[in-house]
Amino acid sequence: MEEKERKDTREEVLIRAFKKEDVDFVYKIIEENFPRPWIREQILLENVFSYKVVLEKEGEIIGFLFGEIIYEEANVLLIAIKKDYQGKGFGELLLDHFVQVCKNKEVNKILLEVSTENKKAINLYRKKGFKKLSIRKKYYSNGSDAFLMALEK
Ligand SMILES: CC(C)(COP(=O)(O)OP(=O)(O)OC[C@H]1O[C@@H](n2cnc3c(N)ncnc32)[C@H](O)[C@@H]1OP(=O)(O)O)[C@@H](O)C(=O)NCCC(=O)NCCS
Repeated sequence: MEEKERKDTREEVLIRAFKKEDVDFVYKIIEENFPRPWIREQILLENVFSYKVVLEKEGEIIGFLFGEIIYEEANVLLIAIKKDYQGKGFGELLLDHFVQVCKNKEVNKILLEVSTENKKAINLYRKKGFKKLSIRKKYYSNGSDAFLMALEK
């Protein structure tokens, strides 16, 4: 029953490409989730390898995933869900989407860094099959460490 309800919720959403008009909505999600938020200019930064999507629910942006696909290697740069909507399967949905896009493009390895203190995100990545490769000491500006994790084909 629990599983069915969760699935129904997830079916009402749309994953679409990030547009520059989305910047304020994405900024708000970053601001409520991270102690040292990105500035708007960073959110807008793109290169030919960028892969940026937002998750819309009934017209409202409730999450996003920013990544890069560089030939056979990809990176998850930032993923976040609006606080009110966390724990309902939306983060997993966005990550599943990115992994599927990478598979379709024949990516061999998806890499990401995650704070060693971010249990929620680590659990999500492990659930999706990501493995810890190493620790990057003092990776974040607050001095905390990051795990480098990878999902390999
Ligand atoms: C991390 C984040 C993206 C996960 O998205 P979410 O929608 O909240 O998570 P989901 O509901 O999709 O849960 C997927 C899995 O994540 C893990 N997870 C989610 N919430 C959790 C919690 N409160 N405690 C422990 N693990 C949790 C579980 O493994 C869960 O699978 P399960 O439901 O089968 O147990 C989201 O919580 C978030 O935006 N956090 C703040 C920003 C952040 O830390 N981003 C990642 C670093 S860049």
